[in-house]
Amino acid sequence: MFELPPLPYEKTALAPFLSEETLTFHHDKHFNAYVTTLNSLIKDTPYAELSLEEIIRKAAAEDNKPIFNNAGQVFNHDFYFKCLGPAHKEGEGDACPLDGCALKKMVGETFGGREKFWESLVKAATGNFGSGWTWLVQENGKLEILNYSNADSPVRDRPSATPLLCIDVWEHAYYIDYRNDRKKYVEQMLQHVNWVQVASRVS
Ligand SMILES: [Fe+2]
Repeated sequence: MFELPPLPYEKTALAPFLSEETLTFHHDKHFNAYVTTLNSLIKDTPYAELSLEEIIRKAAAEDNKPIFNNAGQVFNHDFYFKCLGPAHKEGEGDACPLDGCALKKMVGETFGGREKFWESLVKAATGNFGSGWTWLVQENGKLEILNYSNADSPVRDRPSATPLLCIDVWEHAYYIDYRNDRKKYVEQMLQHVNWVQVASRVS
């Protein structure tokens, strides 16, 4: 059985990027609902013995949409909330978060620098039609930005890739604070990504 992971920061820590109200609804209501629904769906089934990633792949293979969707959303939301943190200090955006690490080197090689990297993330996330997730993954020393719909993720179709970052582009992630302005939400999110955490996932 799965438990709702607590937020790794206070609900007021991300304001004004994300308000306490948004985090309360998104974490305590939406995320919690996926956890409790998943638990009720897998109870007393062979799924109950598996890891979250195994559940996602098994449900995809068996076309069990309710379990796939709820397990996917549990994985995605846990990953998303752990990607975030308080705002970078003035001037940190170019230096501190990526300095001297393997992620910075790959950002340079793949995108030609931090600015184009962020532009690519914003473009992908704003162009991801409907509800879904924009992921940054690493495989064989290269970075890729991938768009997925609904509850889908690279866990299903790219098991050998390492997920580094995800952006929740469901409206419930930003509508209270940004209404329909997804682009502004994504731009603000990049200022509140815990890049040290993201860089630590590089293998
Ligand atoms: Fe969400």
